[in-house]
Amino acid sequence: MIPVCIPKIGDEELKNVLDCIKTNWISSKGEYVDKFEEGFSRYIGCDYGISTTSGTTALHLAMASLGLKKGDEVIVPTFTIASTIFAILYTGATPVLVDCEDETWNIDVNQIEEKITANTKVIMPVHIYGHPCDMDPIIEIAEDFDLFVVEDAAEVHGAEYKGRKAGGIGHIGCFSFYANKIITTGEGGMLVTNNPELADKASKLKDLAFSRERRFLHDDVGFNYRMTNIQAAIGVAQLEKIEEYVAMRRRNAFLYNEYLKDLKGIRLPVEKSWAKNVYWMYSILIEDDFGVSRDELMEKLSAKGIETRTFFIPMHEQPVFHDQGLFKGEQYPVAEEISKKGMYLPSSSGLSEHEIEIISRNIYESHKI
Ligand SMILES: Cc1ncc(COP(=O)(O)O)c(C=O)c1O
Repeated sequence: MIPVCIPKIGDEELKNVLDCIKTNWISSKGEYVDKFEEGFSRYIGCDYGISTTSGTTALHLAMASLGLKKGDEVIVPTFTIASTIFAILYTGATPVLVDCEDETWNIDVNQIEEKITANTKVIMPVHIYGHPCDMDPIIEIAEDFDLFVVEDAAEVHGAEYKGRKAGGIGHIGCFSFYANKIITTGEGGMLVTNNPELADKASKLKDLAFSRERRFLHDDVGFNYRMTNIQAAIGVAQLEKIEEYVAMRRRNAFLYNEYLKDLKGIRLPVEKSWAKNVYWMYSILIEDDFGVSRDELMEKLSAKGIETRTFFIPMHEQPVFHDQGLFKGEQYPVAEEISKKGMYLPSSSGLSEHEIEIISRNIYESHKI
């Protein structure tokens, strides 16, 4: 079986975890948490890093730190994972959807402005599958309308927009370190920012909003979103290898592109001239003229021991949100189309060229001329 993604964990991670256990620093206090926050935020180009228990909690912490409440609106792409929407709903605010664009599958920046109302507080672009969003127009709109920009950068460790790291461009960036991410802590996340007030608010809220003046006095309704020292110990070791892993992801994409480029009916992932795509997941679209459908191709590959995944189901098509009176009857044609046609192939950093060749050959063989 070739899985869609397996983490690449080595002896350094083991050594750091053993260190936590041997020294009893297994909870959220301990030197690895500080080291990981400092190292990762510096890598992204931000002054502050606040680690969390997941990407989802990092997003919620971001929304809470901005003080979002009922009646506020957040503009977000429909083509994303539910975490992005959940994070908004936890605060009582309302998500307002925008379609994605056809090439990079990221939020269509030309459709943002028409969704802005007097209640809009935040634009939340989501960098999809490794390719950064077109950030300049988003920042410009945010400045014009006095809005915050929170980047959901869960999938794009190391991706760049015009030479700047994705996740470090808006007011806040949120990352996930789930096991399939480019670097992992098992479960985990981080909020990064250059704004000292937001950093202070986030670090307080994530730790039950303990007052700094008096123990067991609380300044707010806080959360326990603390990453453990054991998770951070893994993160510190992973961070040493982040550039290597990004290069491996990019090499996977280069090889897949070479093997698949002449095959009719498959659309390969793009890399815009202003972008560094980290190809978190090597994602393709199966067009009608491929000969077999996306689902048939996935079944054929599965029968050969090759695991794949469909693209996200857009948020406006999720019954759970309709039940809440959200997005009913809304249509976003690009997201609908790519959701039906899109799939991703095995994308682990440690994938061998031989495996990529086998996967590509099986795709060729599934293809009816
Ligand atoms: C775009 C995006 N945002 C948020 C998340 C949530 O991260 P986590 O699974 O760590 O909660 C993910 C997870 O895969 C994601 O892909």
